[in-house]
Amino acid sequence: MLTVKPPKPSQDADFEDLIEQKISIPADYQVYFTRDVFDLGNPVLRQEILRQSELQVSAAVFVDASVMAADPALEQKITDYFTASAQINLLSAPIIVPGGEACKNDPALLNDFYQRVIELAIDRHSCIVVIGGGAVLDFVGYGASTAHRGIRLIRVPTTVLSQNDSGVGVKNGINFAHRKNFLGTFSTPDAVINDVDFLYTLSPRDQRAGMAEAIKVSLIRDAGFFDWLERHVTQMVSFEVDAVSYSIRHSARIHARQIASGGDPFEKGSARPLDYGHWLAHKLEALSDYSVRHGEAVAIGMLVDARYSNLKGLLDCASLERLTRLLKNFGFTLWHDSLQQHDSQGQLLVMQGLAEFREHLGGELTITLLTSLGSGVEVHEIDDELMQQSLDWVRQQA
Ligand SMILES: NC(=O)c1ccc[n+]([C@@H]2O[C@H](COP(=O)([O-])OP(=O)(O)OC[C@H]3O[C@@H](n4cnc5c(N)ncnc54)[C@H](O)[C@@H]3O)[C@@H](O)[C@H]2O)c1
Ligand SMILES: [Zn+2]
Repeated sequence: MLTVKPPKPSQDADFEDLIEQKISIPADYQVYFTRDVFDLGNPVLRQEILRQSELQVSAAVFVDASVMAADPALEQKITDYFTASAQINLLSAPIIVPGGEACKNDPALLNDFYQRVIELAIDRHSCIVVIGGGAVLDFVGYGASTAHRGIRLIRVPTTVLSQNDSGVGVKNGINFAHRKNFLGTFSTPDAVINDVDFLYTLSPRDQRAGMAEAIKVSLIRDAGFFDWLERHVTQMVSFEVDAVSYSIRHSARIHARQIASGGDPFEKGSARPLDYGHWLAHKLEALSDYSVRHGEAVAIGMLVDARYSNLKGLLDCASLERLTRLLKNFGFTLWHDSLQQHDSQGQLLVMQGLAEFREHLGGELTITLLTSLGSGVEVHEIDDELMQQSLDWVRQQA
């Protein structure tokens, strides 16, 4: 059959073959440091829920099960706080989410979350408040940013790690197929409210684990902060409120600054500038079946990459020695036997972490190493043999 092409359209502007689309998405959110967030006289959370709204706002509260269990009065306090404001409509009693990595590993929980959103008619003008550790923030954050293509979210982080690191950021995620944060979103919270009082019901193990992220930012960004951590190790280990509050504020500020001014808040490039020590950490968490906490894995990952930096001639021995001593003084265990697992070809499984780290972003492998205590450098190649030597060395330090 003979086909006849239609005539060309007239050369009118409406017939151009290209639409140059440019959207800028301004985002601003406050990170508060407060005490007793649900005290009736504390306006911070109430004001943030009602920000930019003259009308009534519906709110739903999701709480980490361990936070709820640690304080029998919390449920009532939350309910009283919301009912004291005529403008806030609390849609249900606080909803409990299993805490820890379990919530990021169980797809059924995500289903339950979406069902709750439907049942409670939570919409984009409603506000979800999530109270919990980094895992619960990641999980609820993921659910909130995908249901209805994004519901307002206020984070109330309750662990050291989530107050000084993850809660401040723009990432949410859950695990899939044994891969950390394989499913996830970038979305900015409406506000972050850090209340140091929550940290006093944490286990000593979780109090310590979160401090690894403070050490991490000091290593790559702030030599003075590393010195400060060395000088205040006793106060940090005994969890003195002034020292803990200072270190949380300081590292939250460095994290926030990196996101706002680092030029790549949604990680379009190949680098993850703040993820020093994390290629190994993420793999170790998975290899240990998540029995090693994120912060504990970061402590080991930082030392392995510091020794590698040292073997590469980038970091001097005295600095490596100071870092090893600091990690030990904080009480970190510097080895886990799952780092010795091999595959059927005799390859160390942990080494796969390098490829997985690269794949997560795509692009070129980019690993941060140390040139001194306080500054990092990005490299794009890792020598397997030297890395295995670094692992052996760290095992001997433990
Ligand atoms: N989104 C990000 O940018 C980002 C960054 C770093 C880490 N993370 C993620 O954060 C998670 C780790 O978070 P985490 O270190 O906060 O640990 P976590 O959330 O696993 O919490 C540790 C344990 O403490 C409990 N808990 C939380 N708050 C408590 C409190 N106040 N009192 C008593 N118990 C409490 C939890 O239920 C859990 O059992 C990992 O999944 C990690 O991947 C995310
Ligand atoms: Zn981390």
